[in-house]
Amino acid sequence: MFPAGPPSHSLLRLPLLQLLLLVVQAVGRGLGRASPAGGPLEDVVIERYHIPRACPREVQMGDFVRYHYNGTFEDGKKFDSSYSRNHTYNTYIGQGYIIPGMDQGLQGACMGERRRITIPPHLAYGENGTGDKIPGSAVLIFNVHVIDFHNPADVVEIRTLSRPSETCNETTKLGDFVRYHYNCSLLDGTQLFTSHDYGAPQEATLGANKVIEGLDTGLQGMCVGERRQLIVPPHLAHGESGARGVPGSAVLLFEVELVSREDGLPTGYLFVWHKDPPANLFEDMDLNKDGEVPPEEFSTFIKAQVSEGKGRLMPGQDPEKTIGDMFQNQDRNQDGKITVDELKLKSDEDEERVHEEL
Ligand SMILES: *[C@@H]1O[C@H](CO)[C@@H](O)[C@H](O)[C@H]1NC(C)=O
Ligand SMILES: *[C@@H]1O[C@H](CO)[C@@H](O)[C@H](O)[C@H]1NC(C)=O
Ligand SMILES: *[C@@H]1O[C@H](CO)[C@@H](O)[C@H](O)[C@H]1NC(C)=O
Ligand SMILES: *[C@@H]1O[C@H](CO)[C@@H](O)[C@H](O)[C@H]1NC(C)=O
Ligand SMILES: *[C@@H]1O[C@H](CO)[C@@H](O)[C@H](O)[C@H]1NC(C)=O
Repeated sequence: MFPAGPPSHSLLRLPLLQLLLLVVQAVGRGLGRASPAGGPLEDVVIERYHIPRACPREVQMGDFVRYHYNGTFEDGKKFDSSYSRNHTYNTYIGQGYIIPGMDQGLQGACMGERRRITIPPHLAYGENGTGDKIPGSAVLIFNVHVIDFHNPADVVEIRTLSRPSETCNETTKLGDFVRYHYNCSLLDGTQLFTSHDYGAPQEATLGANKVIEGLDTGLQGMCVGERRQLIVPPHLAHGESGARGVPGSAVLLFEVELVSREDGLPTGYLFVWHKDPPANLFEDMDLNKDGEVPPEEFSTFIKAQVSEGKGRLMPGQDPEKTIGDMFQNQDRNQDGKITVDELKLKSDEDEERVHEEL
Protein backbone atom coordinates (compact mmCIF):
# COMPACT_ATOMS: atom_id res chain seq x y z
CA MET A 1 0.00 0.00 0.00
CA PHE A 2 2.84 2.35 0.90
CA PRO A 3 5.72 1.49 -1.39
CA ALA A 4 7.89 4.02 0.41
CA GLY A 5 11.34 3.24 1.65
CA PRO A 6 12.94 -0.18 1.77
CA PRO A 7 10.84 -3.31 2.17
CA SER A 8 10.38 -4.22 5.83
CA HIS A 9 12.50 -7.36 5.72
CA SER A 10 15.58 -5.29 4.97
CA LEU A 11 14.73 -2.91 7.79
CA LEU A 12 14.73 -5.81 10.20
CA ARG A 13 18.27 -6.64 9.29
CA LEU A 14 19.50 -3.16 10.26
CA PRO A 15 21.09 -2.79 13.69
CA LEU A 16 18.67 -1.28 16.19
CA LEU A 17 20.50 2.02 16.58
CA GLN A 18 20.53 2.61 12.83
CA LEU A 19 16.83 1.78 12.70
CA LEU A 20 16.08 4.35 15.39
CA LEU A 21 18.10 6.98 13.54
CA LEU A 22 16.16 6.22 10.40
CA VAL A 23 12.83 6.72 12.18
CA VAL A 24 14.06 10.01 13.66
CA GLN A 25 15.18 11.18 10.24
CA ALA A 26 11.88 10.28 8.69
CA VAL A 27 9.91 12.04 11.39
CA GLY A 28 12.23 15.02 11.15
CA ARG A 29 11.45 15.38 7.49
CA GLY A 30 7.76 15.36 8.20
CA LEU A 31 6.66 13.54 5.08
CA GLY A 32 8.12 10.16 5.92
CA ARG A 33 9.77 9.82 2.55
CA ALA A 34 13.35 9.49 3.59
CA SER A 35 15.34 6.82 1.85
CA PRO A 36 17.31 4.43 4.12
CA ALA A 37 20.48 6.48 3.99
CA GLY A 38 18.64 9.81 4.07
CA GLY A 39 19.75 10.22 0.42
CA PRO A 40 17.65 10.72 -2.66
CA LEU A 41 14.13 9.38 -2.84
CA GLU A 42 14.14 5.89 -4.34
CA ASP A 43 10.50 4.93 -4.60
CA VAL A 44 7.13 6.49 -5.14
CA VAL A 45 5.65 7.72 -1.86
CA ILE A 46 1.89 7.71 -1.47
CA GLU A 47 0.03 9.61 1.23
CA ARG A 48 -3.67 8.89 1.26
CA TYR A 49 -5.05 11.92 3.01
CA HIS A 50 -8.69 11.41 2.15
CA ILE A 51 -10.11 7.91 1.77
CA PRO A 52 -13.90 7.72 1.29
CA ARG A 53 -15.66 5.58 3.86
CA ALA A 54 -17.14 3.37 1.17
CA CYS A 55 -14.59 1.95 -1.18
CA PRO A 56 -16.08 -1.04 -2.98
CA ARG A 57 -13.08 -1.34 -5.28
CA GLU A 58 -9.62 0.06 -5.86
CA VAL A 59 -7.76 1.10 -9.00
CA GLN A 60 -5.81 -1.75 -10.51
CA MET A 61 -3.77 -2.49 -13.62
CA GLY A 62 -5.74 -2.01 -16.80
CA ASP A 63 -8.33 0.33 -15.28
CA PHE A 64 -9.21 3.59 -16.96
CA VAL A 65 -9.00 6.41 -14.41
CA ARG A 66 -10.33 9.97 -14.53
CA TYR A 67 -8.64 12.25 -12.03
CA HIS A 68 -7.80 15.83 -11.28
CA TYR A 69 -4.34 16.80 -10.14
CA ASN A 70 -2.10 19.65 -9.11
CA GLY A 71 1.55 19.01 -9.97
CA THR A 72 4.20 20.82 -7.92
CA PHE A 73 7.91 20.61 -7.29
CA GLU A 74 9.33 20.00 -3.83
CA ASP A 75 9.51 23.75 -3.23
CA GLY A 76 5.77 24.02 -3.81
CA LYS A 77 6.00 25.67 -7.22
CA LYS A 78 3.20 24.49 -9.53
CA PHE A 79 4.20 23.09 -12.92
CA ASP A 80 0.88 21.73 -14.17
CA SER A 81 -2.74 21.26 -13.16
CA SER A 82 -5.68 19.49 -14.74
CA TYR A 83 -7.94 22.19 -13.27
CA SER A 84 -6.40 24.76 -15.59
CA ARG A 85 -7.91 22.77 -18.48
CA ASN A 86 -11.30 22.30 -16.78
CA HIS A 87 -11.00 18.65 -17.61
CA THR A 88 -10.01 15.54 -15.73
CA TYR A 89 -6.90 13.74 -16.86
CA ASN A 90 -8.07 10.42 -18.32
CA THR A 91 -5.82 7.44 -18.80
CA TYR A 92 -5.31 3.70 -18.57
CA ILE A 93 -3.21 2.56 -15.62
CA GLY A 94 -0.22 0.23 -15.72
CA GLN A 95 0.19 0.32 -19.47
CA GLY A 96 2.96 2.87 -19.83
CA TYR A 97 0.80 5.77 -21.01
CA ILE A 98 1.94 7.92 -18.10
CA ILE A 99 5.22 8.22 -16.20
CA PRO A 100 6.01 5.03 -14.24
CA GLY A 101 5.67 6.86 -10.91
CA MET A 102 2.05 7.77 -11.68
CA ASP A 103 1.29 4.29 -12.98
CA GLN A 104 2.40 3.00 -9.58
CA GLY A 105 1.06 5.91 -7.58
CA LEU A 106 -2.56 5.61 -8.71
CA GLN A 107 -2.90 1.92 -7.97
CA GLY A 108 -5.03 1.00 -4.98
CA ALA A 109 -6.90 4.33 -5.00
CA CYS A 110 -10.61 4.48 -4.17
CA MET A 111 -13.18 6.50 -6.07
CA GLY A 112 -13.20 9.96 -4.53
CA GLU A 113 -9.85 9.45 -2.84
CA ARG A 114 -7.35 12.29 -2.52
CA ARG A 115 -3.70 11.29 -2.31
CA ARG A 116 -0.34 12.85 -2.64
CA ILE A 117 2.08 10.99 -4.89
CA THR A 118 5.74 11.93 -4.64
CA ILE A 119 7.82 10.63 -7.52
CA PRO A 120 11.60 10.44 -7.74
CA PRO A 121 13.14 11.59 -11.05
CA HIS A 122 14.01 8.10 -12.30
CA LEU A 123 10.27 7.24 -12.20
CA ALA A 124 9.35 10.59 -13.77
CA TYR A 125 11.38 12.57 -16.34
CA GLY A 126 14.89 11.51 -15.30
CA GLU A 127 18.05 13.49 -15.14
CA ASN A 128 17.24 15.44 -18.31
CA GLY A 129 13.70 16.56 -17.45
CA THR A 130 11.33 17.41 -20.27
CA GLY A 131 10.30 20.50 -22.18
CA ASP A 132 10.72 23.83 -20.44
CA LYS A 133 8.46 22.86 -17.53
CA ILE A 134 10.32 19.99 -15.86
CA PRO A 135 14.03 20.50 -15.14
CA GLY A 136 16.48 17.61 -14.84
CA SER A 137 16.41 15.38 -11.75
CA ALA A 138 13.14 16.88 -10.51
CA VAL A 139 11.11 15.21 -7.79
CA LEU A 140 7.45 15.64 -8.72
CA ILE A 141 4.56 15.88 -6.28
CA PHE A 142 1.07 15.21 -7.53
CA ASN A 143 -1.97 15.98 -5.43
CA VAL A 144 -4.55 13.76 -7.01
CA HIS A 145 -8.33 13.54 -6.71
CA VAL A 146 -9.69 10.35 -8.24
CA ILE A 147 -13.08 11.12 -9.81
CA ASP A 148 -13.94 7.68 -11.11
CA PHE A 149 -12.48 4.65 -12.80
CA HIS A 150 -13.70 1.61 -14.65
CA ASN A 151 -12.40 -1.36 -16.52
CA PRO A 152 -13.31 -1.97 -20.17
CA ALA A 153 -14.57 -5.40 -19.07
CA ASP A 154 -17.04 -3.90 -16.56
CA VAL A 155 -20.73 -4.70 -16.83
CA VAL A 156 -23.57 -2.74 -15.26
CA GLU A 157 -23.53 -3.03 -11.48
CA ILE A 158 -27.06 -3.51 -10.19
CA ARG A 159 -28.06 -3.13 -6.55
CA THR A 160 -31.66 -3.38 -5.43
CA LEU A 161 -32.40 -0.64 -2.88
CA SER A 162 -35.97 -1.66 -2.10
CA ARG A 163 -38.76 -3.87 -3.37
CA PRO A 164 -42.48 -3.67 -2.78
CA SER A 165 -43.53 -5.97 0.05
CA GLU A 166 -46.07 -8.01 -1.93
CA THR A 167 -44.53 -10.57 -4.26
CA CYS A 168 -44.26 -9.44 -7.82
CA ASN A 169 -45.17 -12.08 -10.36
CA GLU A 170 -43.95 -10.33 -13.45
CA THR A 171 -40.63 -8.63 -13.81
CA THR A 172 -39.54 -6.48 -16.72
CA LYS A 173 -38.14 -8.17 -19.80
CA LEU A 174 -37.01 -7.30 -23.31
CA GLY A 175 -39.80 -5.76 -25.37
CA ASP A 176 -41.73 -4.47 -22.36
CA PHE A 177 -42.96 -0.91 -22.29
CA VAL A 178 -41.90 0.66 -18.99
CA ARG A 179 -42.30 3.91 -17.13
CA TYR A 180 -39.64 4.80 -14.59
CA HIS A 181 -38.22 7.65 -12.56
CA TYR A 182 -34.50 8.18 -12.40
CA ASN A 183 -31.79 10.38 -10.99
CA CYS A 184 -28.48 10.35 -12.80
CA SER A 185 -25.22 11.67 -11.40
CA LEU A 186 -21.48 11.33 -11.73
CA LEU A 187 -19.67 9.30 -9.10
CA ASP A 188 -18.36 12.44 -7.40
CA GLY A 189 -21.97 13.37 -6.68
CA THR A 190 -22.48 15.91 -9.48
CA GLN A 191 -26.16 15.70 -10.46
CA LEU A 192 -26.71 15.41 -14.21
CA PHE A 193 -30.30 14.56 -15.03
CA THR A 194 -33.50 13.64 -13.27
CA SER A 195 -36.89 12.58 -14.55
CA HIS A 196 -38.46 14.51 -11.67
CA ASP A 197 -37.81 17.69 -13.69
CA TYR A 198 -40.42 16.60 -16.21
CA GLY A 199 -43.30 15.84 -13.88
CA ALA A 200 -43.97 12.55 -15.65
CA PRO A 201 -41.89 9.38 -15.57
CA GLN A 202 -39.58 8.51 -18.44
CA GLU A 203 -40.94 5.95 -20.92
CA ALA A 204 -39.07 3.31 -22.89
CA THR A 205 -39.48 0.03 -24.67
CA LEU A 206 -36.77 -2.26 -23.34
CA GLY A 207 -34.35 -3.52 -25.95
CA ALA A 208 -35.53 -0.98 -28.54
CA ASN A 209 -32.26 0.95 -28.44
CA LYS A 210 -34.04 3.98 -27.00
CA VAL A 211 -31.93 4.37 -23.86
CA ILE A 212 -28.24 3.77 -23.20
CA GLU A 213 -27.33 0.11 -23.08
CA GLY A 214 -26.47 0.12 -19.37
CA LEU A 215 -29.84 1.55 -18.41
CA ASP A 216 -31.65 -0.88 -20.70
CA THR A 217 -29.90 -3.76 -18.93
CA GLY A 218 -30.38 -2.25 -15.48
CA LEU A 219 -34.14 -1.88 -15.99
CA GLN A 220 -34.64 -5.56 -16.80
CA GLY A 221 -35.83 -8.08 -14.23
CA MET A 222 -37.45 -5.36 -12.10
CA CYS A 223 -40.70 -5.42 -10.17
CA VAL A 224 -43.06 -2.47 -10.37
CA GLY A 225 -42.23 -0.29 -7.34
CA GLU A 226 -38.68 -1.61 -7.07
CA ARG A 227 -35.81 0.86 -6.65
CA ARG A 228 -32.33 0.12 -7.87
CA GLN A 229 -28.95 1.71 -7.99
CA LEU A 230 -27.04 1.20 -11.24
CA ILE A 231 -23.40 1.94 -11.90
CA VAL A 232 -22.91 2.20 -15.64
CA PRO A 233 -19.43 2.22 -17.20
CA PRO A 234 -18.94 4.62 -20.13
CA HIS A 235 -18.82 1.89 -22.80
CA LEU A 236 -22.44 1.11 -21.81
CA ALA A 237 -23.34 4.80 -21.48
CA HIS A 238 -22.12 7.78 -23.50
CA GLY A 239 -18.67 6.47 -24.35
CA GLU A 240 -15.38 8.26 -24.75
CA SER A 241 -16.84 11.41 -26.23
CA GLY A 242 -19.63 11.82 -23.67
CA ALA A 243 -22.82 13.69 -24.47
CA ARG A 244 -24.41 17.01 -23.66
CA GLY A 245 -23.70 17.52 -19.98
CA VAL A 246 -21.85 14.21 -19.67
CA PRO A 247 -18.04 14.27 -19.63
CA GLY A 248 -16.22 11.83 -21.90
CA SER A 249 -15.53 8.38 -20.38
CA ALA A 250 -17.66 9.17 -17.33
CA VAL A 251 -19.07 6.39 -15.17
CA LEU A 252 -22.73 7.13 -14.41
CA LEU A 253 -24.69 6.45 -11.26
CA PHE A 254 -28.43 5.96 -11.66
CA GLU A 255 -31.16 5.57 -9.12
CA VAL A 256 -34.21 4.17 -10.83
CA GLU A 257 -37.73 3.36 -9.68
CA LEU A 258 -40.02 1.30 -11.86
CA VAL A 259 -43.45 2.93 -12.08
CA SER A 260 -45.24 0.60 -14.51
CA ARG A 261 -44.73 -2.29 -16.86
CA GLU A 262 -46.73 -3.44 -19.87
CA ASP A 263 -46.08 -6.16 -22.40
CA GLY A 264 -44.84 -4.61 -25.60
CA LEU A 265 -45.91 -5.52 -29.14
CA PRO A 266 -43.72 -7.23 -31.71
CA THR A 267 -41.68 -4.77 -33.76
CA GLY A 268 -43.74 -3.09 -36.46
CA TYR A 269 -47.12 -3.92 -34.92
CA LEU A 270 -49.60 -1.31 -33.72
CA PHE A 271 -52.23 -3.74 -32.45
CA VAL A 272 -52.37 -7.46 -31.71
CA TRP A 273 -55.20 -9.87 -31.00
CA HIS A 274 -54.79 -12.01 -27.94
CA LYS A 275 -56.37 -14.98 -29.72
CA ASP A 276 -57.26 -15.54 -33.37
CA PRO A 277 -58.70 -12.49 -35.11
CA PRO A 278 -62.46 -12.61 -35.91
CA ALA A 279 -63.25 -14.89 -38.85
CA ASN A 280 -65.33 -12.22 -40.60
CA LEU A 281 -63.21 -9.25 -39.77
CA PHE A 282 -64.48 -6.86 -42.42
CA GLU A 283 -68.14 -7.65 -41.75
CA ASP A 284 -67.58 -7.11 -38.02
CA MET A 285 -65.96 -3.75 -38.66
CA ASP A 286 -68.56 -2.54 -41.15
CA LEU A 287 -71.04 -1.66 -38.46
CA ASN A 288 -73.73 -0.16 -40.75
CA LYS A 289 -73.16 -2.84 -43.42
CA ASP A 290 -72.66 -0.39 -46.31
CA GLY A 291 -69.57 -2.16 -47.66
CA GLU A 292 -67.05 0.38 -46.51
CA VAL A 293 -65.38 1.29 -43.21
CA PRO A 294 -64.77 5.00 -42.49
CA PRO A 295 -62.42 6.13 -39.68
CA GLU A 296 -65.25 6.36 -37.10
CA GLU A 297 -66.35 2.75 -37.61
CA PHE A 298 -62.75 1.57 -37.59
CA SER A 299 -62.01 3.43 -34.36
CA THR A 300 -65.20 2.19 -32.66
CA PHE A 301 -64.38 -1.37 -33.65
CA ILE A 302 -60.75 -1.31 -32.44
CA LYS A 303 -61.68 0.34 -29.14
CA ALA A 304 -64.34 -2.33 -28.58
CA GLN A 305 -61.74 -5.06 -29.16
CA VAL A 306 -59.49 -3.44 -26.57
CA SER A 307 -62.19 -2.88 -23.96
CA GLU A 308 -63.47 -6.46 -24.38
CA GLY A 309 -59.91 -7.69 -23.77
CA LYS A 310 -59.66 -9.29 -27.21
CA GLY A 311 -56.64 -7.30 -28.29
CA ARG A 312 -54.36 -4.49 -27.32
CA LEU A 313 -52.76 -1.44 -28.84
CA MET A 314 -49.12 -0.51 -28.84
CA PRO A 315 -48.36 0.91 -25.37
CA GLY A 316 -46.81 4.32 -24.87
CA GLN A 317 -48.63 6.18 -27.60
CA ASP A 318 -51.93 8.04 -27.68
CA PRO A 319 -54.52 5.38 -28.72
CA GLU A 320 -56.21 7.86 -31.10
CA LYS A 321 -52.95 8.34 -32.94
CA THR A 322 -52.25 4.61 -33.11
CA ILE A 323 -55.73 3.90 -34.43
CA GLY A 324 -55.32 6.73 -36.95
CA ASP A 325 -52.03 5.19 -38.12
CA MET A 326 -53.67 1.78 -38.41
CA PHE A 327 -56.46 3.29 -40.52
CA GLN A 328 -53.95 4.99 -42.82
CA ASN A 329 -52.13 1.70 -43.29
CA GLN A 330 -55.35 -0.09 -44.28
CA ASP A 331 -56.77 2.67 -46.49
CA ARG A 332 -54.37 1.75 -49.25
CA ASN A 333 -55.79 4.11 -51.88
CA GLN A 334 -56.10 6.91 -49.32
CA ASP A 335 -59.74 7.67 -50.16
CA GLY A 336 -60.81 7.90 -46.51
CA LYS A 337 -62.49 4.49 -46.30
CA ILE A 338 -61.41 0.89 -46.08
CA THR A 339 -62.94 -1.68 -48.43
CA VAL A 340 -62.95 -5.43 -48.13
CA ASP A 341 -60.14 -5.70 -50.71
CA GLU A 342 -57.96 -3.24 -48.87
CA LEU A 343 -58.23 -4.79 -45.40
CA LYS A 344 -55.34 -7.09 -44.57
CA LEU A 345 -53.87 -8.47 -41.37
CA LYS A 346 -50.27 -7.58 -40.89
CA SER A 347 -49.34 -11.24 -40.38
CA ASP A 348 -50.81 -11.99 -43.84
CA GLU A 349 -49.00 -9.02 -45.29
CA ASP A 350 -45.70 -10.19 -43.89
CA GLU A 351 -46.27 -13.63 -45.36
CA GLU A 352 -47.08 -12.15 -48.74
CA ARG A 353 -43.99 -10.03 -48.66
CA VAL A 354 -41.89 -13.09 -47.94
CA HIS A 355 -43.45 -14.85 -50.94
CA GLU A 356 -42.88 -11.84 -53.15
CA GLU A 357 -39.25 -11.82 -52.23
CA LEU A 358 -38.83 -15.52 -52.96
C1 LIG B 1 -12.50 26.97 -17.15
O1 LIG B 1 -13.75 27.35 -16.59
C2 LIG B 1 -13.74 28.66 -16.06
C3 LIG B 1 -15.06 28.92 -15.36
O2 LIG B 1 -16.11 28.29 -16.05
C4 LIG B 1 -13.46 29.67 -17.19
O3 LIG B 1 -13.41 30.97 -16.68
C5 LIG B 1 -12.12 29.32 -17.85
O4 LIG B 1 -11.89 30.15 -18.96
C6 LIG B 1 -12.10 27.87 -18.29
N1 LIG B 1 -10.76 27.53 -18.76
C7 LIG B 1 -10.54 26.80 -19.86
C8 LIG B 1 -9.12 26.54 -20.18
O5 LIG B 1 -11.45 26.35 -20.53
C1 LIG C 1 20.22 13.17 -21.31
O1 LIG C 1 20.84 14.07 -22.20
C2 LIG C 1 22.14 13.66 -22.59
C3 LIG C 1 22.76 14.80 -23.37
O2 LIG C 1 21.83 15.34 -24.30
C4 LIG C 1 22.05 12.38 -23.37
O3 LIG C 1 23.32 11.93 -23.76
C5 LIG C 1 21.39 11.33 -22.51
O4 LIG C 1 21.22 10.13 -23.24
C6 LIG C 1 20.08 11.81 -21.95
N1 LIG C 1 19.60 10.87 -20.98
C7 LIG C 1 18.38 10.33 -21.09
C8 LIG C 1 18.02 9.38 -19.98
O5 LIG C 1 17.61 10.59 -21.99
C1 LIG D 1 -5.60 21.81 -6.70
O1 LIG D 1 -5.51 23.17 -6.38
C2 LIG D 1 -6.75 23.86 -6.34
C3 LIG D 1 -6.47 25.32 -6.13
O2 LIG D 1 -5.56 25.49 -5.12
C4 LIG D 1 -7.62 23.26 -5.26
O3 LIG D 1 -8.87 23.88 -5.24
C5 LIG D 1 -7.81 21.78 -5.53
O4 LIG D 1 -8.55 21.16 -4.50
C6 LIG D 1 -6.45 21.11 -5.65
N1 LIG D 1 -6.67 19.71 -6.03
C7 LIG D 1 -6.10 18.69 -5.44
C8 LIG D 1 -6.41 17.34 -5.97
O5 LIG D 1 -5.35 18.82 -4.49
C1 LIG E 1 -49.22 -13.36 -8.08
O1 LIG E 1 -49.49 -14.75 -8.23
C2 LIG E 1 -50.20 -15.30 -7.14
C3 LIG E 1 -50.28 -16.81 -7.33
O2 LIG E 1 -50.46 -17.13 -8.69
C4 LIG E 1 -51.56 -14.64 -7.03
O3 LIG E 1 -52.27 -15.16 -5.94
C5 LIG E 1 -51.36 -13.14 -6.84
O4 LIG E 1 -52.61 -12.47 -6.86
C6 LIG E 1 -50.50 -12.56 -7.95
N1 LIG E 1 -50.17 -11.20 -7.62
C7 LIG E 1 -50.26 -10.22 -8.51
C8 LIG E 1 -49.86 -8.85 -8.00
O5 LIG E 1 -50.59 -10.37 -9.66
C1 LIG F 1 -34.33 11.41 -7.00
O1 LIG F 1 -33.92 12.36 -6.05
C2 LIG F 1 -35.02 12.99 -5.38
C3 LIG F 1 -34.45 14.10 -4.54
O2 LIG F 1 -33.40 13.63 -3.77
C4 LIG F 1 -35.77 11.94 -4.59
O3 LIG F 1 -36.87 12.53 -3.94
C5 LIG F 1 -36.28 10.86 -5.54
O4 LIG F 1 -36.89 9.84 -4.81
C6 LIG F 1 -35.14 10.30 -6.35
N1 LIG F 1 -35.67 9.43 -7.38
C7 LIG F 1 -35.24 8.20 -7.58
C8 LIG F 1 -35.85 7.46 -8.71
O5 LIG F 1 -34.40 7.71 -6.91
